[in-house]
Parts: sequence; structure tokens; C-alpha cells
Amino acid sequence: MKVDILHACMAVEFSADLMALSYSTTCIIRLVLVGPVSFPPIHVHIHIYKKAISSVVFIYTSVLGLLFTLSYSMASSLIFIAWLILALVMTLGTFVVPQAEAARAFFVFGDSLVDNGNNNYLATTARADSPPYGIDYPTRRPTGRFSNGKNIPDFISEQIGSESTLPYLSPQLTGQRLLVGANFASAGIGILNDTGIQFVNIIRMFRQLEYFQEYQNRVTALIGAQRTKQLVNRALVLITVGGNDFVNNYYLVPFSARSRQFSLPNYAKYLISEYKKLLMRLYDLGARRVLVTGTGPLGCVPAELAQRSRNGECSAELQRAASLFNPQLDQMLRQLNSQYGSDVFIGVNTRQMSNDFITNPQAFGFTTSKVACCGQGRYNGLGLCTPASNLCPNRDLYAFWDPFHPSEKANGIIVQQFMTSGSTKYMYPMNLSTIMAMDSNI
Ligand SMILES: *[C@@H]1O[C@H](CO)[C@@H](O)[C@H](O)[C@H]1NC(C)=O
Ligand SMILES: *[C@@H]1O[C@H](CO)[C@@H](O)[C@H](O)[C@H]1NC(C)=O
Repeated sequence: MKVDILHACMAVEFSADLMALSYSTTCIIRLVLVGPVSFPPIHVHIHIYKKAISSVVFIYTSVLGLLFTLSYSMASSLIFIAWLILALVMTLGTFVVPQAEAARAFFVFGDSLVDNGNNNYLATTARADSPPYGIDYPTRRPTGRFSNGKNIPDFISEQIGSESTLPYLSPQLTGQRLLVGANFASAGIGILNDTGIQFVNIIRMFRQLEYFQEYQNRVTALIGAQRTKQLVNRALVLITVGGNDFVNNYYLVPFSARSRQFSLPNYAKYLISEYKKLLMRLYDLGARRVLVTGTGPLGCVPAELAQRSRNGECSAELQRAASLFNPQLDQMLRQLNSQYGSDVFIGVNTRQMSNDFITNPQAFGFTTSKVACCGQGRYNGLGLCTPASNLCPNRDLYAFWDPFHPSEKANGIIVQQFMTSGSTKYMYPMNLSTIMAMDSNI
């Protein structure tokens, strides 16, 4: 038997197949079968899932489909089928090899900035499962992401070279797909359990970490304890939490319980001490490379401009909250890294990144960073983004998609900054390109 590769796995195309919404490559392979009976060359079209561990499943499925088709039309020849099976096994063998250099797994924890659909499965009001959310997503449908299209984790997955992680609660997250990673984030949550109580049923941080343990048990059943540990240790982790502890707790209502209990500086300090416990738990669960984002420019989002701003200036109070929280977070990460003797935690200054396009939106191709694309009232910043809201025609011209969340375009720019940040202004102690180059040797 002879195998010719007619079309190497290069073309990147969108596959509406099993692995919906993900990049895949197509290879065409010609099998020339030499046996007691000769057959014309067969062209086998194989879809290979880009660099993902799940490639095996994907090939298997396509090949089975083909096998079915061929055996159906050529059922008369048992010898042919025997040959074909042998050929397919050999072809499979060729492609199972790249498994060794499969993309690293990716795990996501946090709030609506990174949730990609967990809340769709919960009885909560914190959800993004109706239009116009998702209007620019490849499917043009809402997915649960708080974006017109992709969010920050999606762009990070692209950089890793794998498909987007599924929400942990998705029933599709089974079998080999588990090896790509999982997204545990849930819109509305904060560092504290009492943040987001108005959203009722959301996955609080302690619960996200419990799910991470449960996830590892499921993967252990699949590939064994040793490989599971390796997968988790090698993985990239993203955690984005903290903004809601101010917006949806301390400042939710005047004289909130937390604001009566703590001055703002003491509240920030308390949050950092609770956050530290969560990060230590994450470390205990095996995470060894964790991107930790600070809070964004909380006072400058359209929702705050609508409620607190007279002339479009950012809310000083919420900006003060962010400027108390972020430096202490950096300090805490440095302390943890020295405690663990390794750069486990990478501080990501999303506030600085977002500030860049808030102070100079035009430099990034935005016409405004004050008005949300989708919403109503002043700055389109009041209430929720719903089918009845104002909707801008060109989402790429807006830094903010809805009153709280960046547009897809802004999310892409932020992740680009993760990659290329050349100074410690954005990423401490290193950028994502450096992390990927370093960790590729593990
Ligand atoms: C949040 O609640 C869980 C479960 O009740 C508890 O184990 C955890 O300690 C709480 N976390 C905080 C910060 O209070
Ligand atoms: C990442 O950071 C390193 C070290 O600061 C720098 O040399 C490199 O150019 C950065 N990577 C990219 C792609 O900009």
C-alpha cells in the first residue's frame, strides 16, 4: 500500500462539523492499494483538528463516515474493506503521532469578562443568551459570551492554537474534548461569596474550584492520574475576577453592607487577602501558569458614566477602587511567586490596556470609548443590552459593546497586548509570547 499526501494540512477553514465553531485543516490523502485485487486510487479527505489533542477523535469520526460510504457502495468486496481498514489504521497511526505536541490545555475562571456560556445552564438573570449578543460571532448567534463576538479567552485559545474551551456546564464537554481544557467562569461572581447575590444562581469562585477538582477526576478516568497531573501542570490558566466585588457589591446600593463594614482601602485589602486564598487553592489543584488580570478601569465603563458622570469624565470613586486594588494584587502575586519559588502567577494589567483606548480611542480605530454599542439612555449605559436596545451598525468602531463589556475588537487588541507587551507596564513578569516559548519545552 502506498500513501501519497496530495494536500498537506494547511488550509484553515471553518468546519460546521462535530467540532462546531473551530478551526480545522483538511488533508487529502491518496491511498494506492496493492493487493490480490487492484483498485483505483482512493482519495481520503481527512479533517484534522488544529493541534488539539482531540484530533484523534475527529479523524476517527471522519474516517468512519468515509468507511461507511465506501463500504456501502463497494460492499461486494470484502477484501477491499479489509485493505481499507488496514490503510485507515495506518493513516490514523500517522496522525496520532502529533498528539505528543498537542496544544496545551487552557482553563478559565472568573466573571462575565471571561464566561463563555456557563450561565446559560443556570437559573440566573446574569446571562447573554439572547440577541444581539453574539451578532458578530461566527455563528451569528448568542452563546452566553458577553460580547458581540469573541471574548478574551477565545483570542487566547487562538494564540495557543486550539479551539475555544467549552463552558464546564456544557453537556458537550465529554471524552477527548475535556483534554482541550474548560471554562468555569460565571457572570456576576466576585471574589466574595456575597458578591452578585442579586443574580441568585451563579457559580461562585469556591464552586468553580470545586468543579476544577471534579474535572480532574473525570479526566483521570479517561487518561489516568499521571497524564492528568501533567496536563494540568502544563496548562495555561486565566483568572479574571474582582470588578464585581466593587460594582455588584460595595457600590451596588448606597450604604451597602460591605461599605458600612469597610472603608474602601480596607475593603480592597480584604479582597486581596481572600483572593490570595483562592489563588493558593488553584496552585494546590495543580495550576502552574496563571494569568491574573487586575480590574479594568471600573469608573470609565458606559454604565458608570451613565450613572455617575456629568460630562463624560470617569467616576473618581470607582477609579479609586481600581487604583487601590490593582497594585496590591501585583504585590500579592509577587509574594506568592517568591513563596513558590517560580513565576506561577503572571500579573496582567488590563486596566492599563483598557486605559490606552479610553484615553485615545482613535489610535485603535474606535470612534468612541464612552458610548456602548448596545444599550439605552446616556452613553447607552443604562440597563441591559436586549433586542429592544439601541444597536450601533459597526461594532468595530466601539470600544464597549454593552454598558460593562469590551467589544470583540477591543478584546482582540487586549490579547494582542498580552502577547507583545515589551515592558512590565502590561504584564509582569513576562508577556504571553515569552510564556509560550518557555513552556513549549516542558
Ligand atoms: C464561600 O462559601 C463556601 C461554601 O459555603 C465556603 O467554603 C467558603 O469559605 C466561602 N468563602 C468566603 C470567602 O467566605
Ligand atoms: C515579549 O517580551 C520580551 C521580553 O520583554 C520581548 O523581548 C519580546 O519582544 C516580547 N514579545 C513580543 C512578541 O513582543
